[in-house]
Amino acid sequence: MIYNLGSINADYFYRLPRLPGPGETLAATEMSSGLGGKGANQSVAIARAGAEVCHIGAVGGDGRWLIEHLAEAGVDTRNIQFSTRPTAHAIVMIDGQGENQIVIFPGANFDQCPDTVAKVLSEGRPGDWLLLQNETSQQAEAAALAAGRDLNVVYSAAPFDADAVARLLPSLTLLIMNEVEAGQLAEVLGTQVLHLPVANVLVTKGARGADWHDTRLMQTLSVPAFPVAPVDTTGAGDTFTGYVVAGLSTGSSPQTALRRAAAAAAISVTRTGTADAIPTIAEVEAFLA
Ligand code: RIB
Repeated sequence: MIYNLGSINADYFYRLPRLPGPGETLAATEMSSGLGGKGANQSVAIARAGAEVCHIGAVGGDGRWLIEHLAEAGVDTRNIQFSTRPTAHAIVMIDGQGENQIVIFPGANFDQCPDTVAKVLSEGRPGDWLLLQNETSQQAEAAALAAGRDLNVVYSAAPFDADAVARLLPSLTLLIMNEVEAGQLAEVLGTQVLHLPVANVLVTKGARGADWHDTRLMQTLSVPAFPVAPVDTTGAGDTFTGYVVAGLSTGSSPQTALRRAAAAAAISVTRTGTADAIPTIAEVEAFLA
């Protein structure tokens, strides 16, 4: 079982000829909306990859449609609570090359109920998984509780904050960052990735693939990305993370889990949207074949 304490956002997408500069006003050529949030996207990816995921999260009274969307994707939504704060949302601007700029309003994501988090994780068994990102409250508490019960704790360190990573490090089994963030963390902690005090570190490199570092064996496994023409890269990292965690939790080797994740991310960037762009395992297998 994978528990995911994760953000749930209403994503509002605006397609623009280019991303705006400071003080600039631009007219969007298209607008749409859908389920998003790094946490929700990762839960959808896990479910579409065929693993069991229980999402722990919070939305406002206006967020019922997001819970329904998660449930339709196969996510266990019984531990998503209603907060008095408004549902979180994200303004996602996308340019002609598929690159984006995102502003998030955290709303209910920062109102996680400590008792619910503790109660749900008290049902976790050794060998289960807890996945976290940096878009909710209660991360450190959840990580410590899960590590104390011998769950595998994975931190997808986005949006990146070196202090948040440092606080969680003692509880982690796997840390996932992009290469810029890995460089920033190495600078703040004064140590290189292979010397971080966490068993495994996964560094994503966009179109250049990803590196899996095993810090106990001092070994690095590199997996290439699949070349595709992107229309929207938003959520590709979440697709990748969800597929990696789903694969590892169901017994795949890092090599197999990363290859499937790379295929899933490649498919997702050829589609628009975030959660809606995440492929099923059948689509991933067809792509790999
Ligand atoms: O990683 C993409 C996600 O970041 C979007 O869905 C948006 O909601 C933000 O959380």
